[in-house]
Amino acid sequence: MSSHTAADPAAPALRVRDLCKIYDNGVEALKGVSLDVGAGDFHALLGPNGAGKSTLIGIVSSLVNKSGGTVEVFGVDIDADRSAAMRLIGLVPQEFNFNMFEKPLDICVNYAGFYGIPREQALARAEEVLKDAHLWDKADKMSRTLSGGMKRRLMIARAMMTRPRLLILDEPTAGVDIEIRRGMWKTLKDINAGGTAIILTTHYLEEAESLCRNLAIIDHGTIVERGPMKSLLAKLDVEGFLFDVEGEVPAVLPQIEGATLLATDAHTLDLDMPRAMDLNRVFAAFDAAGIRVRSMRTKSNRLEELFVRMTAREGAQA
Ligand SMILES: Nc1ncnc2c1ncn2[C@@H]1O[C@H](COP(=O)(O)OP(=O)(O)OP(=O)(O)O)[C@@H](O)[C@H]1O
Ligand SMILES: [Mg+2]
Repeated sequence: MSSHTAADPAAPALRVRDLCKIYDNGVEALKGVSLDVGAGDFHALLGPNGAGKSTLIGIVSSLVNKSGGTVEVFGVDIDADRSAAMRLIGLVPQEFNFNMFEKPLDICVNYAGFYGIPREQALARAEEVLKDAHLWDKADKMSRTLSGGMKRRLMIARAMMTRPRLLILDEPTAGVDIEIRRGMWKTLKDINAGGTAIILTTHYLEEAESLCRNLAIIDHGTIVERGPMKSLLAKLDVEGFLFDVEGEVPAVLPQIEGATLLATDAHTLDLDMPRAMDLNRVFAAFDAAGIRVRSMRTKSNRLEELFVRMTAREGAQA
């Protein structure tokens, strides 16, 4: 296939400008979103239900028509050359969308066929991607019989058939147990280490924190925060801890200046304090109040804190 706008190796994997989407029913799903994802990046896209994540992904992968704005994939404008842009992208959508009555091997080979990859080559690639996804022993089984985690991995394997330079995953680990999720993290890390840029949406913030270098938080169709994971987390100035105390929590809790202390139940204290504050002060106050701490843990992961803060401005809205 000819393409008058060839991929530019120096261009970012994704460049989105002022993207808008109004669905036919009048829902304004995206209200001017701009986003850059570097060529080798592992980028998280976070946001509450209905924020616009799948809409954004749908537009980038040409499944959804945009209402305004521009999208470039490795410098290829999706309006100028939609099929060239699509060939650079591998998509793992939110819902399973393969035929449950086909076998993983056929699913992968047929998918490659849509992209014009010759059957011989597709068979070799299918073996490679199914092995990478630890599904080679299931290659000839009916897909319906795969477990939920295996079906998720099959979605990733299929997307890798075209050797995409940008892999986009929309909640690939939803409903997958922690062990399998960890296995998938490994698969995704390997894919990224091989030079493929990855955009990942997930509701597991721990997952985003451990995998992604950059992140954007989207809420009500607008990017509310974006940047390198590390610097965003460092910006957080509050830390939360839970303390399990021996015996019962006293009726009157000690006052600790600058911090907020609450009893969540008769044996647990919940503390929010500035990051700069010394925990010794907390323990001194506990000591003076006769509170003995048996164990403590951080209340939530830090990304969760950031997420809650960035998306809590407006009331809950699904
Ligand atoms: N095909 C559609 N027609 C009309 N409205 C839609 C359509 N798809 C999505 N929407 C609406 O657009 C908004 C954004 O939805 P979207 O699916 O992009 O959110 P999301 O961030 O992916 O949410 P989730 O985390 O639940 O997957 C929502 O208000 C949703 O109801
Ligand atoms: Mg979605």
